[in-house]
Amino acid sequence: MQLRVVTDQPWDVPADLLVVPVASPVTFDGGLGELDRRAGGELKSLVDFGDLNAKRYSTATASTGGLPARRLLLESIGDPATVDREVVVRVAATAERRLAGRAVRRLAFWLSPLADALGGDAAAVAGLVARGVLEGSYDPRTIYRDSVDSPMVVPDELILIAPGADAAALTTAAERGIVIAEGSALARTLSNRSSNDVSPEVLAEEARAIARKHDLWIDVIGPERATELGMGMFMAVGRGSDNPPRMILLRSGGEGELDALGRHLAIVGKGVCFDSGGISIKPSDRMEEMKMDKTGACTVIAAIATVARLAPGTPLLAVAPTVENMPGPHSTRPGDIVTALNGKKVDIINTDAEGRLILGDALSYAERLGATHLVDVATLTGAVGRALGNQVTGAFGTPQSFYDEVAAAGARAGERYWQLPLIEDYVSEMESWYGDLTNSGSPEGGLIKSGLFLREFVTRPWVHLDIASTGYYRKATAYAPRGATGASHATLVELALAGARAG
Ligand code: BES
Ligand code: MN
Ligand code: ZN
Repeated sequence: MQLRVVTDQPWDVPADLLVVPVASPVTFDGGLGELDRRAGGELKSLVDFGDLNAKRYSTATASTGGLPARRLLLESIGDPATVDREVVVRVAATAERRLAGRAVRRLAFWLSPLADALGGDAAAVAGLVARGVLEGSYDPRTIYRDSVDSPMVVPDELILIAPGADAAALTTAAERGIVIAEGSALARTLSNRSSNDVSPEVLAEEARAIARKHDLWIDVIGPERATELGMGMFMAVGRGSDNPPRMILLRSGGEGELDALGRHLAIVGKGVCFDSGGISIKPSDRMEEMKMDKTGACTVIAAIATVARLAPGTPLLAVAPTVENMPGPHSTRPGDIVTALNGKKVDIINTDAEGRLILGDALSYAERLGATHLVDVATLTGAVGRALGNQVTGAFGTPQSFYDEVAAAGARAGERYWQLPLIEDYVSEMESWYGDLTNSGSPEGGLIKSGLFLREFVTRPWVHLDIASTGYYRKATAYAPRGATGASHATLVELALAGARAG
């Protein structure tokens, strides 16, 4: 997709299709009124006829009555007061998805209505719209087949229209947005691939290819070394499958090197290539979705690749503990006591609470490799979806100052988070008779307990992002297909880039 920023008015730009974001309530003054006049009243008649409703992401196409653009796509952005960066990405993704199966080679996008809604930051909007268009073209239907009905079309050229803006600044921002969208697509495809395709070793192979491509340090720890090192929780999950576990480590920058903010940041992602529940086996209903339980690992692997493209050499460590959680003669039994890498004795009373086990050892190991700040991302609980739904990621963290830094990166990235509390009183509900703690408690407050469990394995500033429901959509929306969404990839990239050295 070629990119071009133009500072002309939208009615002067030739294209196959011009996207016109429309705020509600619709007022035909300013640019929209002028565009309507030049299109012979087409826009107004569409709205009067009721073809474009005021609901955000609703769309309608129109002919252009002699404008240099061949067709118009009007898209409602709803109340401009509630437009944030996430909405801007989704408005762009919706427009692109709406074009599936159409012949659009040159796609023009009028940025001004979105820039006005975001307080005039046209460069930010250019980055978010370019990213959104490319993210909107993401199509998991073609992972395993060559052709599908109404295939997504990536336009040859994306023309961003921003009258009066600084074209060079917008181009830079848009190019960066495209790199982020490409990283998100990488995370999504890795995650969407099925479990008979992506085993822990296959994910490690993918990581090796990424390391070669972007000149990253890589280490892959197999079962022998993991056992020797004392990763008892990681091995407790990994030992149940014929596909051996892999602790995947990728690093840009030097060992223990601090970034411009004085951090050695580690991003740690849950990589359960299939979560059957193990001996505490899951109900069969929708078990097929548990191939997505590796999404956190795919997200951190893609994020370090994106950071390596945007700011090579930025100190960053990615850790992806990767396993299959399977029942079998070698599986961990409920009630087994294992020793974690940090020495704690853990009583595994539920083998389906496996994510926290592999993450706990991965977090300890990241600290051993010099991490001073840690963020983990995981499809950790069903409870987070019941609490928050799929529009906001649940998050925990301590100290508050580091949580706030991660939340600020999320805001820059256009991703929503909601902080949940680490209530001390619930720690005692995870006490074990034989060990130091159990890996789950009673279901009441189960979401909070998942955070408290992870906290036992970190001694440094740490944030946990539970993407179990935001990271994977069960059904398509206007702006995204069913499957992996790429959630938190952009946040991790923004967080790491905050520590990039200038230049
Ligand atoms: N991978 C699941 C969480 C999950 C559930 C992700 C639904 C996406 C959709 C996780 O390993 C799990 O099984 N969690 C249990 C924890 C419980 C046993 C303490 C859960 O949420 O039920
Ligand atoms: Mn599980
Ligand atoms: Zn799981």
